[in-house]
Amino acid sequence: MTMTMGMPLFLIFLVQIASVAVASSDLRPGFYSKTCPEAEVIVRDVMKKALMREPRSVASVMRFQFHDCFVNGCDASMLLDDTPTMLGEKLALSNINSLRSFEVVDQVKEALEKACPGVVSCADIIIMASRDAVALTGGPDWEVRLGRLDSLIANQEDSNNIMPSPRANASSLIDLFQKYNLTVKDLVALSGSHSIGQGRCFSIMFRLYNQSGTGRPDPAFDPKYRQELERLCPLDVDQNVTGNLDSTPLVFDNQYFKDLVAGRGFLNSDQTLFTFPQTREFVRLFSRHQNEFFKAFEEGMLKMGDLQSGRPGEVRTNCRVANARPAHLLLESPHKMEESNDE
Ligand code: HEM
Ligand SMILES: *[C@@H]1O[C@H](CO)[C@@H](O)[C@H](O)[C@H]1NC(C)=O
Ligand SMILES: *[C@@H]1O[C@H](CO)[C@@H](O)[C@H](O)[C@H]1NC(C)=O
Ligand SMILES: *[C@@H]1O[C@H](CO)[C@@H](O)[C@H](O)[C@H]1NC(C)=O
Ligand SMILES: *[C@@H]1O[C@H](CO)[C@@H](O)[C@H](O)[C@H]1NC(C)=O
Repeated sequence: MTMTMGMPLFLIFLVQIASVAVASSDLRPGFYSKTCPEAEVIVRDVMKKALMREPRSVASVMRFQFHDCFVNGCDASMLLDDTPTMLGEKLALSNINSLRSFEVVDQVKEALEKACPGVVSCADIIIMASRDAVALTGGPDWEVRLGRLDSLIANQEDSNNIMPSPRANASSLIDLFQKYNLTVKDLVALSGSHSIGQGRCFSIMFRLYNQSGTGRPDPAFDPKYRQELERLCPLDVDQNVTGNLDSTPLVFDNQYFKDLVAGRGFLNSDQTLFTFPQTREFVRLFSRHQNEFFKAFEEGMLKMGDLQSGRPGEVRTNCRVANARPAHLLLESPHKMEESNDE
Protein backbone atom coordinates (compact mmCIF):
# COMPACT_ATOMS: atom_id res chain seq x y z
CA MET A 1 0.00 0.00 0.00
CA THR A 2 2.71 2.46 0.96
CA MET A 3 4.29 1.76 -2.43
CA THR A 4 1.40 3.49 -4.19
CA MET A 5 1.97 6.76 -2.35
CA GLY A 6 2.89 9.55 -4.69
CA MET A 7 1.97 7.61 -7.83
CA PRO A 8 -0.15 9.29 -10.47
CA LEU A 9 -3.79 8.33 -10.21
CA PHE A 10 -3.89 6.22 -13.35
CA LEU A 11 -0.98 4.13 -12.09
CA ILE A 12 -2.69 3.39 -8.79
CA PHE A 13 -5.62 2.17 -10.83
CA LEU A 14 -3.38 -0.18 -12.82
CA VAL A 15 -1.71 -1.51 -9.69
CA GLN A 16 -5.08 -2.39 -8.21
CA ILE A 17 -6.25 -4.21 -11.34
CA ALA A 18 -3.02 -6.15 -11.46
CA SER A 19 -3.27 -7.20 -7.84
CA VAL A 20 -6.70 -8.70 -8.47
CA ALA A 21 -5.34 -10.63 -11.43
CA VAL A 22 -2.34 -12.10 -9.64
CA ALA A 23 -3.97 -12.64 -6.25
CA SER A 24 -4.92 -16.12 -7.37
CA SER A 25 -1.44 -17.10 -8.50
CA ASP A 26 0.37 -16.23 -5.30
CA LEU A 27 -1.30 -18.50 -2.85
CA ARG A 28 0.65 -18.84 0.37
CA PRO A 29 0.49 -20.30 3.86
CA GLY A 30 -0.66 -17.86 6.51
CA PHE A 31 -2.52 -15.67 4.03
CA TYR A 32 -5.00 -14.69 6.76
CA SER A 33 -2.51 -14.37 9.63
CA LYS A 34 -3.09 -10.61 9.86
CA THR A 35 -6.66 -10.26 8.54
CA CYS A 36 -8.22 -13.27 10.26
CA PRO A 37 -5.68 -14.99 12.52
CA GLU A 38 -8.22 -17.46 13.91
CA ALA A 39 -9.46 -18.58 10.49
CA GLU A 40 -7.88 -22.04 10.46
CA VAL A 41 -8.84 -22.74 14.09
CA ILE A 42 -12.43 -21.75 13.35
CA VAL A 43 -12.67 -24.01 10.30
CA ARG A 44 -11.25 -26.98 12.16
CA ASP A 45 -13.60 -26.41 15.06
CA VAL A 46 -16.71 -26.48 12.85
CA MET A 47 -15.37 -29.58 11.07
CA LYS A 48 -14.87 -31.33 14.44
CA LYS A 49 -18.48 -30.63 15.33
CA ALA A 50 -19.65 -31.88 11.93
CA LEU A 51 -17.65 -35.08 12.44
CA MET A 52 -19.31 -35.67 15.81
CA ARG A 53 -22.79 -34.89 14.49
CA GLU A 54 -22.56 -36.97 11.31
CA PRO A 55 -19.26 -38.75 10.67
CA ARG A 56 -19.79 -39.09 6.90
CA SER A 57 -20.25 -35.36 6.43
CA VAL A 58 -16.54 -34.58 6.57
CA ALA A 59 -15.90 -37.01 3.69
CA SER A 60 -18.68 -35.35 1.74
CA VAL A 61 -17.04 -31.95 2.28
CA MET A 62 -13.61 -33.28 1.33
CA ARG A 63 -15.02 -34.38 -2.02
CA PHE A 64 -15.84 -30.72 -2.74
CA GLN A 65 -12.19 -29.94 -3.35
CA PHE A 66 -12.10 -32.32 -6.32
CA HIS A 67 -15.40 -31.17 -7.81
CA ASP A 68 -14.47 -27.52 -7.29
CA CYS A 69 -10.85 -27.46 -8.42
CA PHE A 70 -11.29 -29.52 -11.61
CA VAL A 71 -13.98 -27.21 -12.97
CA ASN A 72 -12.37 -23.85 -13.76
CA GLY A 73 -10.03 -23.90 -10.79
CA CYS A 74 -10.55 -23.80 -7.03
CA ASP A 75 -13.04 -20.94 -6.93
CA ALA A 76 -16.04 -22.33 -5.03
CA SER A 77 -18.06 -22.22 -8.26
CA MET A 78 -19.71 -25.51 -7.28
CA LEU A 79 -21.15 -23.92 -4.14
CA LEU A 80 -23.30 -21.45 -6.10
CA ASP A 81 -27.02 -22.19 -6.15
CA ASP A 82 -28.91 -21.98 -9.45
CA THR A 83 -30.37 -18.56 -10.26
CA PRO A 84 -33.06 -17.63 -12.80
CA THR A 85 -30.28 -16.77 -15.26
CA MET A 86 -27.58 -19.29 -14.34
CA LEU A 87 -27.53 -23.08 -14.14
CA GLY A 88 -25.18 -23.89 -11.28
CA GLU A 89 -22.96 -26.94 -10.90
CA LYS A 90 -24.95 -28.55 -8.08
CA LEU A 91 -27.22 -30.26 -10.60
CA ALA A 92 -24.42 -31.34 -12.96
CA LEU A 93 -24.28 -35.06 -13.82
CA SER A 94 -21.67 -36.03 -11.21
CA ASN A 95 -23.12 -33.81 -8.50
CA ILE A 96 -26.91 -34.20 -8.58
CA ASN A 97 -28.29 -36.41 -5.77
CA SER A 98 -24.68 -37.00 -4.83
CA LEU A 99 -22.81 -33.98 -3.46
CA ARG A 100 -24.00 -33.34 0.07
CA SER A 101 -23.20 -31.57 3.34
CA PHE A 102 -23.27 -28.08 1.84
CA GLU A 103 -24.65 -26.97 5.22
CA VAL A 104 -21.27 -27.69 6.83
CA VAL A 105 -19.63 -25.12 4.56
CA ASP A 106 -22.43 -22.69 5.41
CA GLN A 107 -21.68 -23.17 9.10
CA VAL A 108 -17.96 -22.57 8.57
CA LYS A 109 -18.73 -19.45 6.57
CA GLU A 110 -21.12 -18.15 9.21
CA ALA A 111 -18.52 -18.59 11.95
CA LEU A 112 -15.87 -16.86 9.83
CA GLU A 113 -18.16 -13.97 8.91
CA LYS A 114 -18.78 -13.43 12.60
CA ALA A 115 -15.05 -13.32 13.39
CA CYS A 116 -13.81 -11.41 10.32
CA PRO A 117 -16.54 -10.29 7.92
CA GLY A 118 -15.81 -10.35 4.21
CA VAL A 119 -12.28 -11.70 4.54
CA VAL A 120 -12.06 -15.47 4.04
CA SER A 121 -13.12 -16.82 0.65
CA CYS A 122 -15.36 -19.84 0.20
CA ALA A 123 -12.73 -21.31 -2.12
CA ASP A 124 -10.22 -21.24 0.75
CA ILE A 125 -12.82 -22.72 3.10
CA ILE A 126 -13.10 -25.76 0.83
CA ILE A 127 -9.31 -26.18 0.87
CA MET A 128 -9.00 -25.84 4.66
CA ALA A 129 -12.05 -28.01 5.38
CA SER A 130 -10.83 -30.78 3.06
CA ARG A 131 -7.48 -30.87 4.79
CA ASP A 132 -9.24 -30.93 8.16
CA ALA A 133 -11.51 -33.81 7.09
CA VAL A 134 -8.42 -35.89 6.37
CA ALA A 135 -6.56 -34.86 9.53
CA LEU A 136 -9.60 -35.47 11.78
CA THR A 137 -10.19 -39.00 10.46
CA GLY A 138 -6.66 -40.24 11.07
CA GLY A 139 -4.91 -39.06 7.92
CA PRO A 140 -2.02 -36.66 7.46
CA ASP A 141 -2.19 -32.98 8.40
CA TRP A 142 -0.48 -30.37 6.27
CA GLU A 143 -0.08 -26.65 5.74
CA VAL A 144 -2.34 -25.28 2.99
CA ARG A 145 -1.69 -22.34 0.68
CA LEU A 146 -4.46 -19.71 0.86
CA GLY A 147 -5.58 -16.52 -0.85
CA ARG A 148 -8.09 -17.79 -3.46
CA LEU A 149 -11.02 -15.74 -4.67
CA ASP A 150 -14.57 -16.93 -5.26
CA SER A 151 -15.95 -17.05 -8.78
CA LEU A 152 -18.73 -14.76 -9.92
CA ILE A 153 -20.37 -17.54 -11.91
CA ALA A 154 -20.71 -21.31 -12.16
CA ASN A 155 -20.76 -23.50 -15.27
CA GLN A 156 -22.88 -26.64 -15.28
CA GLU A 157 -21.84 -27.61 -18.79
CA ASP A 158 -18.14 -27.51 -17.90
CA SER A 159 -18.80 -29.73 -14.91
CA ASN A 160 -20.73 -32.19 -17.10
CA ASN A 161 -17.91 -32.29 -19.61
CA ILE A 162 -15.06 -32.60 -17.14
CA MET A 163 -16.00 -34.67 -14.10
CA PRO A 164 -15.25 -38.38 -14.60
CA SER A 165 -17.83 -41.15 -14.47
CA PRO A 166 -17.62 -43.94 -11.88
CA ARG A 167 -17.33 -46.20 -14.94
CA ALA A 168 -14.06 -44.60 -16.03
CA ASN A 169 -11.04 -46.82 -16.67
CA ALA A 170 -7.52 -46.02 -15.53
CA SER A 171 -6.28 -44.86 -18.94
CA SER A 172 -9.04 -42.27 -19.31
CA LEU A 173 -8.40 -41.10 -15.72
CA ILE A 174 -4.68 -40.79 -16.43
CA ASP A 175 -5.52 -38.62 -19.46
CA LEU A 176 -7.91 -36.44 -17.46
CA PHE A 177 -5.48 -35.84 -14.61
CA GLN A 178 -2.68 -35.19 -17.08
CA LYS A 179 -4.63 -32.16 -18.35
CA TYR A 180 -4.11 -30.64 -14.90
CA ASN A 181 -0.45 -31.62 -14.75
CA LEU A 182 -1.32 -34.28 -12.21
CA THR A 183 0.80 -37.41 -12.57
CA VAL A 184 -0.20 -41.07 -12.50
CA LYS A 185 1.05 -41.14 -8.91
CA ASP A 186 -1.11 -38.11 -8.06
CA LEU A 187 -4.13 -39.86 -9.60
CA VAL A 188 -3.66 -43.02 -7.56
CA ALA A 189 -2.91 -41.13 -4.34
CA LEU A 190 -5.86 -38.76 -4.75
CA SER A 191 -8.18 -41.69 -5.46
CA GLY A 192 -7.17 -42.78 -1.95
CA SER A 193 -9.61 -40.08 -0.78
CA HIS A 194 -12.14 -42.89 -1.21
CA SER A 195 -10.63 -44.24 1.99
CA ILE A 196 -13.49 -42.32 3.62
CA GLY A 197 -17.13 -41.91 2.65
CA GLN A 198 -19.80 -43.71 0.68
CA GLY A 199 -21.22 -44.14 -2.80
CA ARG A 200 -24.68 -44.99 -4.16
CA CYS A 201 -25.88 -48.20 -5.76
CA PHE A 202 -26.57 -45.96 -8.76
CA SER A 203 -22.80 -45.69 -9.26
CA ILE A 204 -22.18 -49.44 -9.39
CA MET A 205 -25.30 -51.06 -10.95
CA PHE A 206 -23.65 -51.39 -14.37
CA ARG A 207 -20.60 -53.00 -12.76
CA LEU A 208 -22.69 -55.52 -10.90
CA TYR A 209 -25.05 -56.48 -13.71
CA ASN A 210 -23.86 -55.30 -17.12
CA GLN A 211 -20.21 -54.31 -17.23
CA SER A 212 -19.37 -52.71 -20.62
CA GLY A 213 -22.68 -54.01 -22.02
CA THR A 214 -21.64 -57.65 -21.57
CA GLY A 215 -24.65 -58.59 -19.45
CA ARG A 216 -22.09 -59.84 -16.90
CA PRO A 217 -20.50 -58.37 -13.76
CA ASP A 218 -17.04 -56.84 -13.77
CA PRO A 219 -14.63 -59.82 -13.69
CA ALA A 220 -12.26 -57.84 -11.44
CA PHE A 221 -14.63 -58.29 -8.46
CA ASP A 222 -13.69 -60.59 -5.63
CA PRO A 223 -16.69 -63.00 -5.80
CA LYS A 224 -17.57 -62.71 -2.10
CA TYR A 225 -17.48 -58.93 -2.24
CA ARG A 226 -19.64 -58.96 -5.35
CA GLN A 227 -22.24 -61.05 -3.52
CA GLU A 228 -22.25 -58.55 -0.65
CA LEU A 229 -22.83 -55.73 -3.11
CA GLU A 230 -25.57 -57.67 -4.91
CA ARG A 231 -27.36 -57.97 -1.59
CA LEU A 232 -26.94 -54.24 -0.96
CA CYS A 233 -27.95 -53.28 -4.51
CA PRO A 234 -30.39 -55.81 -6.03
CA LEU A 235 -31.70 -54.93 -9.51
CA ASP A 236 -34.87 -53.35 -8.12
CA VAL A 237 -33.11 -51.37 -5.36
CA ASP A 238 -33.69 -47.69 -4.59
CA GLN A 239 -30.46 -46.57 -6.24
CA ASN A 240 -29.90 -43.91 -3.59
CA VAL A 241 -28.98 -46.64 -1.11
CA THR A 242 -25.32 -46.21 -0.18
CA GLY A 243 -22.38 -48.51 0.52
CA ASN A 244 -18.92 -47.90 1.95
CA LEU A 245 -16.14 -46.91 -0.43
CA ASP A 246 -13.70 -49.06 1.53
CA SER A 247 -13.94 -51.37 4.52
CA THR A 248 -12.97 -48.64 7.02
CA PRO A 249 -15.07 -45.69 5.74
CA LEU A 250 -14.64 -43.50 8.83
CA VAL A 251 -10.85 -43.80 8.97
CA PHE A 252 -8.45 -42.19 6.52
CA ASP A 253 -5.87 -44.92 6.03
CA ASN A 254 -4.43 -47.14 3.29
CA GLN A 255 -7.10 -49.83 3.71
CA TYR A 256 -8.62 -48.58 0.43
CA PHE A 257 -5.52 -49.80 -1.44
CA LYS A 258 -5.47 -53.14 0.40
CA ASP A 259 -9.09 -53.56 -0.65
CA LEU A 260 -8.21 -52.85 -4.30
CA VAL A 261 -5.47 -55.49 -4.22
CA ALA A 262 -8.09 -57.93 -2.90
CA GLY A 263 -10.60 -57.07 -5.65
CA ARG A 264 -12.80 -55.25 -3.17
CA GLY A 265 -12.93 -51.79 -4.74
CA PHE A 266 -16.42 -50.22 -4.73
CA LEU A 267 -16.37 -48.12 -7.91
CA ASN A 268 -15.14 -49.26 -11.29
CA SER A 269 -12.90 -46.17 -11.25
CA ASP A 270 -11.34 -47.54 -8.06
CA GLN A 271 -10.82 -51.18 -9.07
CA THR A 272 -9.49 -50.16 -12.49
CA LEU A 273 -6.45 -48.67 -10.77
CA PHE A 274 -5.36 -52.19 -9.86
CA THR A 275 -6.43 -53.74 -13.15
CA PHE A 276 -4.31 -51.44 -15.34
CA PRO A 277 -0.52 -51.94 -15.29
CA GLN A 278 0.17 -48.17 -15.47
CA THR A 279 -1.41 -47.61 -12.05
CA ARG A 280 -1.10 -51.03 -10.39
CA GLU A 281 2.36 -50.53 -8.91
CA PHE A 282 1.29 -47.36 -7.09
CA VAL A 283 -1.72 -49.21 -5.66
CA ARG A 284 0.64 -51.92 -4.43
CA LEU A 285 3.09 -49.38 -3.00
CA PHE A 286 0.40 -47.50 -1.09
CA SER A 287 -1.20 -50.75 0.13
CA ARG A 288 2.12 -51.70 1.74
CA HIS A 289 3.36 -48.32 2.94
CA GLN A 290 0.82 -45.98 4.46
CA ASN A 291 3.45 -43.25 4.87
CA GLU A 292 4.08 -43.27 1.10
CA PHE A 293 0.35 -42.87 0.54
CA PHE A 294 0.06 -40.01 3.02
CA LYS A 295 3.05 -38.17 1.52
CA ALA A 296 1.74 -38.53 -2.04
CA PHE A 297 -1.78 -37.58 -0.99
CA GLU A 298 -0.64 -34.31 0.61
CA GLU A 299 1.36 -33.48 -2.48
CA GLY A 300 -1.58 -34.24 -4.76
CA MET A 301 -3.99 -32.15 -2.68
CA LEU A 302 -1.57 -29.20 -2.75
CA LYS A 303 -1.17 -29.45 -6.53
CA MET A 304 -4.90 -29.81 -7.10
CA GLY A 305 -5.49 -26.89 -4.71
CA ASP A 306 -3.29 -24.64 -6.82
CA LEU A 307 -5.49 -24.92 -9.94
CA GLN A 308 -6.74 -21.47 -10.88
CA SER A 309 -8.82 -20.08 -13.73
CA GLY A 310 -7.29 -16.62 -13.72
CA ARG A 311 -10.77 -15.15 -13.94
CA PRO A 312 -11.92 -12.25 -11.79
CA GLY A 313 -13.24 -13.08 -8.36
CA GLU A 314 -14.43 -11.80 -5.02
CA VAL A 315 -14.84 -12.89 -1.41
CA ARG A 316 -18.45 -13.99 -1.18
CA THR A 317 -20.41 -13.23 1.99
CA ASN A 318 -22.69 -16.19 1.37
CA CYS A 319 -21.04 -19.17 -0.32
CA ARG A 320 -24.26 -19.98 -2.21
CA VAL A 321 -24.65 -16.62 -4.00
CA ALA A 322 -22.37 -14.12 -5.71
CA ASN A 323 -22.27 -10.76 -3.98
CA ALA A 324 -24.66 -8.12 -5.27
CA ARG A 325 -23.05 -6.27 -8.17
CA PRO A 326 -23.24 -2.56 -8.92
CA ALA A 327 -26.26 -1.83 -11.15
CA HIS A 328 -24.25 -1.00 -14.28
CA LEU A 329 -22.57 -4.41 -14.18
CA LEU A 330 -25.83 -6.27 -13.67
CA LEU A 331 -26.83 -5.26 -17.18
CA GLU A 332 -23.88 -7.06 -18.71
CA SER A 333 -23.75 -10.79 -19.27
CA PRO A 334 -21.26 -12.69 -17.10
CA HIS A 335 -19.28 -13.44 -20.24
CA LYS A 336 -18.91 -9.79 -21.12
CA MET A 337 -17.99 -8.97 -17.56
CA GLU A 338 -15.23 -11.52 -17.72
CA GLU A 339 -13.79 -10.06 -20.89
CA SER A 340 -13.83 -6.52 -19.66
CA ASN A 341 -12.12 -7.58 -16.44
CA ASP A 342 -9.50 -9.67 -18.16
CA GLU A 343 -8.22 -6.71 -20.10
C1 HEM B 1 -10.28 -40.33 -9.88
C2 HEM B 1 -11.49 -40.02 -10.28
C3 HEM B 1 -12.68 -40.04 -9.35
C4 HEM B 1 -13.89 -40.57 -9.64
C5 HEM B 1 -14.33 -41.24 -10.93
C6 HEM B 1 -14.71 -40.38 -8.47
C7 HEM B 1 -16.03 -40.77 -8.37
C8 HEM B 1 -16.76 -40.80 -7.20
C9 HEM B 1 -18.07 -41.35 -7.08
C10 HEM B 1 -18.89 -41.96 -8.22
C11 HEM B 1 -18.44 -41.26 -5.78
C12 HEM B 1 -19.75 -41.73 -5.17
C13 HEM B 1 -20.84 -40.77 -5.58
C14 HEM B 1 -22.21 -41.36 -5.43
O1 HEM B 1 -22.39 -42.56 -5.67
O2 HEM B 1 -23.13 -40.58 -5.10
C15 HEM B 1 -17.36 -40.62 -5.08
C16 HEM B 1 -17.34 -40.34 -3.72
C17 HEM B 1 -16.34 -39.65 -3.10
N1 HEM B 1 -15.25 -39.07 -3.70
FE1 HEM B 1 -14.61 -39.44 -5.58
N2 HEM B 1 -13.99 -39.76 -7.49
C18 HEM B 1 -12.74 -39.51 -7.98
C19 HEM B 1 -11.73 -38.84 -7.35
C20 HEM B 1 -11.87 -38.22 -6.12
C21 HEM B 1 -10.95 -37.28 -5.56
C22 HEM B 1 -9.68 -36.78 -6.26
C23 HEM B 1 -11.43 -36.92 -4.34
C24 HEM B 1 -10.88 -35.97 -3.32
C25 HEM B 1 -9.61 -35.65 -3.23
C26 HEM B 1 -12.64 -37.68 -4.11
C27 HEM B 1 -13.37 -37.70 -2.95
C28 HEM B 1 -14.50 -38.45 -2.75
C29 HEM B 1 -15.11 -38.68 -1.44
C30 HEM B 1 -14.56 -38.22 -0.10
C31 HEM B 1 -16.27 -39.42 -1.67
C32 HEM B 1 -17.30 -39.85 -0.61
C33 HEM B 1 -18.28 -38.72 -0.42
C34 HEM B 1 -19.41 -38.98 0.54
O3 HEM B 1 -19.37 -39.93 1.34
O4 HEM B 1 -20.36 -38.19 0.51
N3 HEM B 1 -12.89 -38.43 -5.23
N4 HEM B 1 -16.35 -40.33 -5.97
C1 LIG C 1 -11.00 -46.70 -21.50
O1 LIG C 1 -12.12 -45.85 -21.60
C2 LIG C 1 -12.11 -45.05 -22.75
C3 LIG C 1 -13.24 -44.04 -22.62
O2 LIG C 1 -14.42 -44.66 -22.26
C4 LIG C 1 -12.23 -45.95 -23.98
O3 LIG C 1 -12.26 -45.19 -25.15
C5 LIG C 1 -11.04 -46.89 -23.99
O4 LIG C 1 -11.17 -47.82 -25.06
C6 LIG C 1 -10.90 -47.64 -22.68
N1 LIG C 1 -9.59 -48.28 -22.67
C7 LIG C 1 -9.41 -49.56 -22.40
C8 LIG C 1 -8.03 -50.08 -22.55
O5 LIG C 1 -10.31 -50.29 -22.02
C1 LIG D 1 0.84 -27.56 -16.99
O1 LIG D 1 2.21 -27.27 -17.18
C2 LIG D 1 2.47 -26.57 -18.37
C3 LIG D 1 3.97 -26.49 -18.56
O2 LIG D 1 4.59 -26.07 -17.38
C4 LIG D 1 1.78 -25.21 -18.32
O3 LIG D 1 2.00 -24.49 -19.51
C5 LIG D 1 0.28 -25.41 -18.14
O4 LIG D 1 -0.37 -24.17 -17.99
C6 LIG D 1 -0.01 -26.29 -16.92
N1 LIG D 1 -1.41 -26.60 -16.90
C7 LIG D 1 -2.15 -26.45 -15.81
C8 LIG D 1 -3.58 -26.80 -15.94
O5 LIG D 1 -1.71 -26.04 -14.75
C1 LIG E 1 -26.41 -54.24 -21.19
O1 LIG E 1 -25.90 -53.12 -21.88
C2 LIG E 1 -26.03 -53.22 -23.28
C3 LIG E 1 -25.27 -52.08 -23.92
O2 LIG E 1 -25.50 -50.89 -23.24
C4 LIG E 1 -27.52 -53.25 -23.63
O3 LIG E 1 -27.68 -53.34 -25.03
C5 LIG E 1 -28.15 -54.45 -22.95
O4 LIG E 1 -29.54 -54.45 -23.17
C6 LIG E 1 -27.87 -54.44 -21.46
N1 LIG E 1 -28.31 -55.69 -20.88
C7 LIG E 1 -29.06 -55.73 -19.79
C8 LIG E 1 -29.40 -57.09 -19.28
O5 LIG E 1 -29.47 -54.73 -19.24
C1 LIG F 1 -32.61 -40.30 -5.36
O1 LIG F 1 -33.35 -39.36 -4.62
C2 LIG F 1 -33.65 -38.18 -5.31
C3 LIG F 1 -34.23 -37.15 -4.37
O2 LIG F 1 -35.03 -37.75 -3.41
C4 LIG F 1 -34.58 -38.51 -6.48
O3 LIG F 1 -34.95 -37.34 -7.18
C5 LIG F 1 -33.81 -39.45 -7.41
O4 LIG F 1 -34.60 -39.84 -8.48
C6 LIG F 1 -33.29 -40.67 -6.68
N1 LIG F 1 -32.30 -41.28 -7.54
C7 LIG F 1 -32.32 -42.56 -7.86
C8 LIG F 1 -31.22 -43.04 -8.74
O5 LIG F 1 -33.18 -43.33 -7.47
